[in-house]
Amino acid sequence: MPAPIEKPRPKTIDRAVETLRQGGLVALPTETVYGLAVDASQPRAVAHVFEVKGRPQFNPLICHVAGRDMAGRLVTLSPAADALIAAFWPGPLTLVLPRRADAPVADLVSAGLDTLAVRAPAHSVMRQVLFALDRPVAAPSANPSGRLSPTRADHVADGLGDRVDLIVDGGPCAVGLESTVVEVRDDAVVVLRHGSITTADLRAVVALPVREREDGDPINAPGQLLSHYAPRAALRLDATEVADDEILIGFGAVAGDLNLSPAGDLEEAATRLFALLREADARADRIAVAPVPDHGLGRAINDRLRRAAAPRPH
Ligand code: TXA
Ligand code: MG
Repeated sequence: MPAPIEKPRPKTIDRAVETLRQGGLVALPTETVYGLAVDASQPRAVAHVFEVKGRPQFNPLICHVAGRDMAGRLVTLSPAADALIAAFWPGPLTLVLPRRADAPVADLVSAGLDTLAVRAPAHSVMRQVLFALDRPVAAPSANPSGRLSPTRADHVADGLGDRVDLIVDGGPCAVGLESTVVEVRDDAVVVLRHGSITTADLRAVVALPVREREDGDPINAPGQLLSHYAPRAALRLDATEVADDEILIGFGAVAGDLNLSPAGDLEEAATRLFALLREADARADRIAVAPVPDHGLGRAINDRLRRAAAPRPH
């Protein structure tokens, strides 16, 4: 059934907040593009976003926040981050910063990275939802993977109308281009994705050098190969039996020492993937992983596992 498309009256904002609390998916306007929003603290809801977008990879998601205070609960802010926040928030600037250990955000949001992307959007609808929910909202652009980002409610309805619970129609997006994404490091601000806030705009407010990413930077730009957390241990895929020196991560009927999802549920497996890889890595030098079906979220899970198993330079 197609999702209802509603104008942002108070009743609709309440409904959007309630739907998010219950783990649902709501398409919400921001000043850049429409986002496919979920409560960032709920692992199942976050896994569901990847499912619905049909993305063959776990690309990390942006956590939308009400402002600096909420951001400070998720990441460690630095003086440069504070200068950028003071100049550009609320607005189309996303900051990638070290994730706090106690950040109330599902592992899958940052796809195993130890950084988190945060942004306080300027659109009144998204802001009302964030203030009422009082939790961060993870939201990729509300388009199926590989399609154009939506700047109007009917674009969202065309691409994902059957897969979301509610579409809030806040009219056309003012900026129409995704946010500028920068990684704020101790020694530099690195532009990961260009947007309406330019490199010159950034240079005007931070003391640190502002530069493009370079070959060899540990984090690659969006859409490219991401150098995610790679386990220290060697990884063997499609394992149904475990060797003496291995730890086996099971799935479904292959029980293993740890199990992604005893019930064979791909959504559950996605929510546990990064935590189990870390745990296995801490416990053994060799990790074996049971076969995971290569459909739906299984594609993204297998993509991640193949990368983790690929030969590494170090
Ligand atoms: O304008 C926008 O940013 C829109 C609206 C909805 O806020 N959102 C958006 O989300 O474009 P998405 O998921 O389509 O793009 C987020 C980008 C991705 O390319 C991702 O690689 C990058 O941000 N990103 C997120 N977390 C990251 C991290 N920890 N490190 C590096 N890049 C990150
Ligand atoms: Mg996108």
